[in-house]
Amino acid sequence: MTWTREKRYQPYSAYSEIIKQSLEKKVATSIYKPGFHISPASGLLNDPNGFSYYNGQWHVFYQAFPFGAVHGLKSWVHCISDDLVHWHNLGIALQPGGQFDSHGAYSGSAQVIDDQLFLMYTGNVRDNDWHRSSFQLGAWMNKHNEITKINAPLITAPKHVTDHFRDPQLLKINGTYYALIGAQDKQSLRGEFSLYRSDNLKDWQDMGYVQHELGDLGYMIECPNLVYVNDKVVLIFCPQGISKDNLQVANIYPNVYAIGSELDLETGKWQAEQQTIVQLDDGFDVYASQAFNAPDGNAYLISWVGLPEIEYPTDQENWAHCLSLVKQLKVVNNQLYQLPVPAMSTLADAEEILSENQQQLVADAGQQYELKLNLAANQTGNLLLVSDGTTAHSLQLKFDTNDEGYLIVDRSNVGEKFATSYGETRQILLNTHQALTLDIFIDHSICEIFINGGEKVMTLRFFAPQQQTMIAFAGQNTIKYSGSYLSLSNM
Ligand code: FRU
Repeated sequence: MTWTREKRYQPYSAYSEIIKQSLEKKVATSIYKPGFHISPASGLLNDPNGFSYYNGQWHVFYQAFPFGAVHGLKSWVHCISDDLVHWHNLGIALQPGGQFDSHGAYSGSAQVIDDQLFLMYTGNVRDNDWHRSSFQLGAWMNKHNEITKINAPLITAPKHVTDHFRDPQLLKINGTYYALIGAQDKQSLRGEFSLYRSDNLKDWQDMGYVQHELGDLGYMIECPNLVYVNDKVVLIFCPQGISKDNLQVANIYPNVYAIGSELDLETGKWQAEQQTIVQLDDGFDVYASQAFNAPDGNAYLISWVGLPEIEYPTDQENWAHCLSLVKQLKVVNNQLYQLPVPAMSTLADAEEILSENQQQLVADAGQQYELKLNLAANQTGNLLLVSDGTTAHSLQLKFDTNDEGYLIVDRSNVGEKFATSYGETRQILLNTHQALTLDIFIDHSICEIFINGGEKVMTLRFFAPQQQTMIAFAGQNTIKYSGSYLSLSNM
């Protein structure tokens, strides 16, 4: 079907239950469907929204267009979990279509306020000439997961921003509410962090833009997100159109972080620890990540694994994208570490300790597993995942723990090709002459690689035939390693 603008924005009621069920039935048979990552029953998933802990459970919502793999009329779909690993999908929670969100309930966040969960999000509105207006809206969710929208905007766009004004992160600090909103300045047409303040969630005061020295961040900032980690303040965001002088990046749009000692909420001044921004994930497909400070004292992060404006092979199957695993954050030496949450171990059926220093690690690993590897220092090799034993059909992890120190992920020969104009490899540098530890999660069409205890993460989608199930090293040189393989069950 051709997705005309009219079709993408027609009300959900235009689709019958039968159409929806037949779409979902087809998607369920896809060989690319993940087993332990949140993915849509049909249609498109993008940003995680409202990541929170409320009423004794973890909550995450995601941006959804349920009827095709296109960015159409967006709603929020709601997922809940007891352990941040097993997620239960409750379906659409926040519907678009009101006066202030007629063309989409766009991204936002959540805060527990009294005994309810308050959702703050962007209402996207288009007029007949397709001019956009953005409203920052609110909604209450009660303990029965029922949502009531507030029928007047909390914040209307100030005169100094363009119609690109969205993705509020609601913060509650010492009894005062703050909203950090992605904005484009009307005069300079540059991306800014807009800061608002309120005592009662109703009256909001414009505090201007966050003042920072992170350089020119491009023409728009999407999904700004502040999280407190080990006495540091981590600012996570998606700068669109950032110059290569400020950040070397291969992806169409990056998702980055900066570490500060403080964001002064009175003056809006960001006190950076370093004046540099760093990619949150060194792989191919992470965007719109959302982190929050949970009542258990930890900071958790979840990402959209997908990028805007890129076609993925499952578009043909009427579904697209998934969320990442939840990651626990820590800051060590002004560097953000991301780790799988401890409850991931509950997915393992059995742990098999691998025989050391073999060419073939696992003959038939399936496509749903965790691989923990410790590669000794001073060697160069190529680890083949999702492989038939040849480099011609594998996801390749080329590493050097010798004089050069690198890890390269090469998805050029694993299966269906996509996004090739943005390159088919991603590389990180490693300390030379040091062992390399990898914690790798493979889930049918997604791979998440945690490097050296979460110091770096590389995430990617790949689309390989089901029979590629081997884990082996390329070539005949003996590679020194130890490790284990865990087959993982569905969530
Ligand atoms: C980021 C984004 C947000 C917006 C949402 C719409 O991927 O463009 O800025 O709120 O997606 O789905």
